Amino acid sequence: MSADPSSVHIPVLGPEVVALLGGRAPSLRTSGWIVDGTLGAGGHSALLLKAMPGIHVFGVDQDPEILDLARQNLQPFGDRVRISRSRLSNLARLARKLRCDRPVGWLMDVGASSLQLDRPSRGFSFQKDGPLDMRMDPRRKVTAADIINDWGEEALADLFFREGDEHRSRHIASAIVRARTRVPFKRTGALAELVAETLGGGARIHPATKVFQALRREVNQEGAELLAGLQTAEDLLEEGGVLAVIAFHSGEDQVVKRFLAEGAQAGRWELCSKKPIAPTHHEVRRNARARSARLRGAIRLRAQSASQPPAPTPGAGANP
Ligand SMILES: C[S@@+](CC[C@H](N)C(=O)[O-])C[C@H]1O[C@@H](n2cnc3c(N)ncnc32)[C@H](O)[C@@H]1O
Repeated sequence: MSADPSSVHIPVLGPEVVALLGGRAPSLRTSGWIVDGTLGAGGHSALLLKAMPGIHVFGVDQDPEILDLARQNLQPFGDRVRISRSRLSNLARLARKLRCDRPVGWLMDVGASSLQLDRPSRGFSFQKDGPLDMRMDPRRKVTAADIINDWGEEALADLFFREGDEHRSRHIASAIVRARTRVPFKRTGALAELVAETLGGGARIHPATKVFQALRREVNQEGAELLAGLQTAEDLLEEGGVLAVIAFHSGEDQVVKRFLAEGAQAGRWELCSKKPIAPTHHEVRRNARARSARLRGAIRLRAQSASQPPAPTPGAGANP
């Protein structure tokens, strides 16, 4: 994938992420690894590497196309960056293998990148027709088309309600099941059109927004992946290390909030603030996708969770 200027991912809450992970004086942070668990094209990592000349970044993403872009974008930082393909749920094993397992910072900017959402060939878009796919990791077996064509009506309705907050989920599921007996769904355009016809106009957002969000979250198992990422951060972060998580969906932000609140009560985390950090009006004007972003930060108080094996002794790192 080459960088297409019409489709760029602008890092959300960039200065706020740097301030959180770097403390009051990021330029004085002299050493350590920061894990970027959702590297994307490397926008946040580039900001962190610039602001903190002493740190290294271990960046992972599950999408090989996006990782090619990250490699190009982060190349100027040379051996201060290590990049690997992984899902959040596999990151603990990988970080230990590569000896990046005592990081001082951990970033997760969960969800999809504009570079995925805007490319019709990836099948996320209800505005531009493409294959009904939505897999960020092409090794996953189940596509959005499989779900739409194979799941029962009730299961579809529950999914649209649970993962998309779609209140007319039953109505939409019933229309899908009727339509697919004639022709199975293969394209995003056909699904978006059916949802729009079923719901009618008048909404502020495209009528298919919530159905597409629910499908994307299910295809990529986003809920389970977020929890796995939070748990791995808790297991691996150095004492005093900082976790920063950006969520774009209120349900997701609640998961982060609950995880950190329980951890804080048990003495494992200290919250950086009670309320999440939201983008400024200025940022939302510049980048409309930032509007629902919420950033939460917390400091790891005790390095080892009870369930963890001891960390390997520091030594020469393997190259990914
Ligand atoms: C919002 S983008 C991150 C953008 C990045 N912070 C930047 O500034 O360029 C989210 C990225 O996380 C990746 N991602 C989402 N869920 C993931 C998971 N469970 N494991 C690994 N990568 C994931 C996506 O493939 C996508 O590239």
